[in-house]
Amino acid sequence: MAGAKAPRERGGYTEDVSAGQPEEHGLRFEVDGEIATITLDRPDKRNAQTFATWSALARIGDELPERVRVVVVRGEGPSFSAGIDLRMFTPEGVPGQGSFSSAARLGAAAFEQRLRQAQRGFLWLRRPEIVSVAAVQGHAIGAGFQLALACDLRIVADDVKFCMKEPALGLVPDLTGTKPLVELVGLARAIDICLTARTVEAGEALRIGLAEQVVARDDLDSAVHDKIAGLLSTNRDAATATKRLLQGARSRTLEEQCAAEGAEQAERLRALFSAQP
Ligand code: CAA
Repeated sequence: MAGAKAPRERGGYTEDVSAGQPEEHGLRFEVDGEIATITLDRPDKRNAQTFATWSALARIGDELPERVRVVVVRGEGPSFSAGIDLRMFTPEGVPGQGSFSSAARLGAAAFEQRLRQAQRGFLWLRRPEIVSVAAVQGHAIGAGFQLALACDLRIVADDVKFCMKEPALGLVPDLTGTKPLVELVGLARAIDICLTARTVEAGEALRIGLAEQVVARDDLDSAVHDKIAGLLSTNRDAATATKRLLQGARSRTLEEQCAAEGAEQAERLRALFSAQP
């Protein structure tokens, strides 16, 4: 029809999808006191992720209540997440969210801006004020693997299968996963894992530092529960300051790190004892 405008794509690489509740984007979000739980909730599609998922994750990060100390990221059903929704590879894409072919037509600046929006959904999980725990069962592929890597800790079921599939699909991992992967397993292993797109199972994940704990599938929830109890047993402000220190350790010299310890401790002592007579 002459003059009719093509419908604008919402979300994906072409516009931010930020409206609506997390449930509309395949996520459940619950807060119980100091514990927040994010559940990837499209089990029939193995919790495949879309841009709307990442926008919803970013929004959860923006609106996280201050009282929350622990954030659990988990997946409903047999798999943690089978990665990006494969409809992104089709010309039609994900309805309302575009496709990789529409992304390819964006200019570099527009693409980078959209990607940064997607990455925002992952980055906040590293905040010092919280500890994020990924509870991972079954497949954690591509974006699923990277979401697990965005968390501070990974407790995994004995059927876990991590796979960085992107290079096999002609892409690079771009959802914040490359840095934590290298930091956790070292450059050589990261190259091996990514450039072969092979599967890392539970025993190896534990051995190379991808997972802190491996438990039987039926014990995953209780293992996470126990970990949360441990994390909540320490002083909240000391935990935040300590995580800040640990996160900065790699980029500081020993001397700088010692100074940073001193500065944090001075602050702690002031907070703990300045009110006392
Ligand atoms: N996107 C969309 N739908 C998916 C999906 C995905 N990534 N993964 C699985 N599904 C759907 C299947 O199409 C199927 O749907 P129907 O029942 O409607 O047919 C349903 O989920 C169940 O899938 P399977 O029957 O395949 O389940 P399975 O348990 O036998 O196998 C699996 C699970 C090994 C994860 C397999 O589904 C699979 O290999 N999925 C694709 C994984 C993939 O290549 N992901 C992309 C990684 S790259 C990335 O994430 C980053 C990036 O930016 C590119």
